[in-house]
Order: sequence, then C-alpha cells, then structure tokens
Amino acid sequence: MTTTGQRYQFRNSPHQLHPLQDVLDPHTVRELARVGVKPGARALDLGAGAGSITRHLATLVGPAGKVTAVDIDTCLLDPTAVIDVYQRDLRAEPIPTTGDGYDIITARCLLEHLPNRAELLQQMIHLLRPSGWLVLGEIVYSRVLVHRAPTESDTALITRVVHTILDTLTHRGVDLHWGETTPALLLAAGMNHVQAHSHTETWTGGGPGCALYANNTHQLHDQLTDTGLTPGDLDRFTELMSDPHVVVSSYQFTTTHAQKPDPSPPR
Ligand SMILES: C[S@@+](CC[C@H](N)C(=O)[O-])C[C@H]1O[C@@H](n2cnc3c(N)ncnc32)[C@H](O)[C@@H]1O
Repeated sequence: MTTTGQRYQFRNSPHQLHPLQDVLDPHTVRELARVGVKPGARALDLGAGAGSITRHLATLVGPAGKVTAVDIDTCLLDPTAVIDVYQRDLRAEPIPTTGDGYDIITARCLLEHLPNRAELLQQMIHLLRPSGWLVLGEIVYSRVLVHRAPTESDTALITRVVHTILDTLTHRGVDLHWGETTPALLLAAGMNHVQAHSHTETWTGGGPGCALYANNTHQLHDQLTDTGLTPGDLDRFTELMSDPHVVVSSYQFTTTHAQKPDPSPPR
C-alpha cells in the first residue's frame, strides 16, 4: 500500500474524541432524523473515530440492517452483529463496498483532513443507492470570540491560541474551508435536496467543548510552540479551559446533506 499526502494531525484518544462527540452528536443526530434512516438500511460511517455515530446508526437500522464503520485507527470501534469494522487508510485504500451500495453514508470531521477529499466525495456518491443520503460534517474556519475571561491578557491568549490551532492545521494541509464548498460540489454532481446547516455556540470552561480545545493544544503542542507560543502560554490556556468563569465561542461546525437521484422512480 502506498499512502499519499499529509498525515492526520491528531491521535485518536478518548480525551479528544469523547468531547468531540459530546459537542457534535446532537447536530449529527438531528441531521440523521431530518433525512430519515429506515430499519433494515445499509449504512456506512467513514472515519468513525470512537463510534458514537456508528452506534446511533446501528440503533436506527436495527437488527435487519448493517452499519460499516471505517477508520485508519479502529482501536475505539467494536464490531457487533450489526456493526462491521474495517481498518482502511482512505488516502490510498478503497472504501469497503456491499452488494448494491449504501442507503446512508456519513463522514464527520474526516474529509477536511484528507488530501483526496474530492475523489472520496465522488466515490461516496457512487456507492450510494438511488435515493440514498449523504450526511457530511466539517469544522470550518471561523473567528473565535472570548465572551468572558479573568483578564484582558487571558482574552488575548485564548484568541491567539485558538487561531493558531486553526492556522497550524491549515498549514499542514487540513482544508478548513472544505465544508463551505461541499454544497456546490454536491449540486454539480447532480445530487438532490442539498442542504447545509452551520452552527457555533458558546463553550464554558470545564465543559466538553473547552476540553476539546485543551486536548487539541496538547496534541499540537510542538507545532504550536514552533509558532512562538511558549509552553507557559499553553499551560495557562489549559488552565483557562477548565475554569468555569471562561466563556468562548466554539469551532464552527457545518453539516451538509444531499440525496442521490433515483433515475427510475416508481410510477
Ligand atoms: C476528528 S476525528 C472524527 C471522528 C468521528 N467521525 C467523529 O466525528 O466523532 C477524524 C477521524 O478520521 C480518521 N482518519 C484520519 N485519517 C484517516 C485516513 N487516512 N483513513 C481513514 N480514517 C482516517 C481518524 O482516525 C479519526 O477517527
């Protein structure tokens, strides 16, 4: 196997993926309810991470359905009678297929990280059955707002650290504008019912969102200190992210769904 392009910037750990799930699951679950997932359906969850959406899909498709979960790192994914788990590097290996395709395909916070994101999107559309749904979710670059912090220098530090996380990811090949372009790509591919929803919220110190910010700085520690932030800055940032007095804006999260046309609808 040959792999191409940049490597994924994070390590999968419950400290990162559980807070991510806590803040994003309500949006993805709402999106799946919007499109409707029927018992018996075949679902595919790409870049399944710690599997909360895989498991939610399994409850929606029920015992007569099947969920295929795929990730380069499957250490946090458990197979069941309904859930099949595949370890794949989606930069270089094909998406696992089932007989005649999938009724629903999800990929949350995956495609922005992968250099072959546009090709993967086309493959996902190809693997959908007629009338099948695609549900995508991405972090999109946005300005952070600090609504409350102990001091003005803490406000400046939080602003600087969060923007430096986003800039560092961008410099390492993560496309934080990808989520803004997916509706146009889906429309150009002939998909129907293309809809995007963007969301930001407030995150409070000590909550899951701030735990996610803190974990991202731990994982990117060396890259962030290369930009001029000091280890002391990052320690103070971690302290602030567990202080319930602190209130900041979240990452922007954009979900997009679209339905594959059925060329032969029932008469
Ligand atoms: C930010 S996490 C999102 C996890 C999950 N979708 C969620 O939203 O809770 C990105 C996931 O993509 C996976 N990933 C990164 N690069 C990958 C690759 N080349 N092939 C397959 N999966 C990859 C990571 O292992 C990780 O589980």
